[in-house]
Amino acid sequence: VRVAVLISGAGSNMAALVDAAGESDAPYEVVLVLSNKAEAGGLTVAEAKGVPTAIVDHAAFGKDRAAHEQAIQTVLEAHHVEVVALAGYMRLLTPFLVGRWAGRMLNIHPSLLPKYPGLDTHARAIAAGDAEAGCTVHLVTEGVDDGPVLGQAVVPVQPDDTPAALAQRVLAAEHQLYPQALARFCRTPD
Ligand code: GRF
Repeated sequence: VRVAVLISGAGSNMAALVDAAGESDAPYEVVLVLSNKAEAGGLTVAEAKGVPTAIVDHAAFGKDRAAHEQAIQTVLEAHHVEVVALAGYMRLLTPFLVGRWAGRMLNIHPSLLPKYPGLDTHARAIAAGDAEAGCTVHLVTEGVDDGPVLGQAVVPVQPDDTPAALAQRVLAAEHQLYPQALARFCRTPD
């Protein structure tokens, strides 16, 4: 299955997906890493791993989200992409792109959804006194951090946790969960 990974930042989840795709029994290959930011660190990481990259800078399209998403769609089609994996892609998508990829677009979110959609998930879990935090891979629908759950991983919250420490622990779990969930999805998409 031909997968594109969309990023905006460091791309550590993208790197985990690319590395897992290198295993002999992997059911997917990462054919494209696309960023909406030219300065995303993950672009360099992808290039070093030999994965084609593209930049579709949202700033070039002003407020025209549909035009930005159409430009993304054109690049995805040019690479014959079959499944899109959002990995730290920090821009909300409109029904334009979500609709075109319905059932074929995945996201990873750093909380145990349906708890804490949106930002600052780790600070919110700590403030709530939660004993457990974690991450979720889900299909992307029009709602933010909504959509059918494909997999979750749980990590403990420590008594003296900071958001940064918890984020690091959850991120390590993300790197395990996302390749597994994507592989399972590619083997049995329905
Ligand atoms: C991850 O925690 C992801 O769940 C969240 O943003 C972070 C991206 O990290 N949406 P990276 O770019 O994959 O390193």
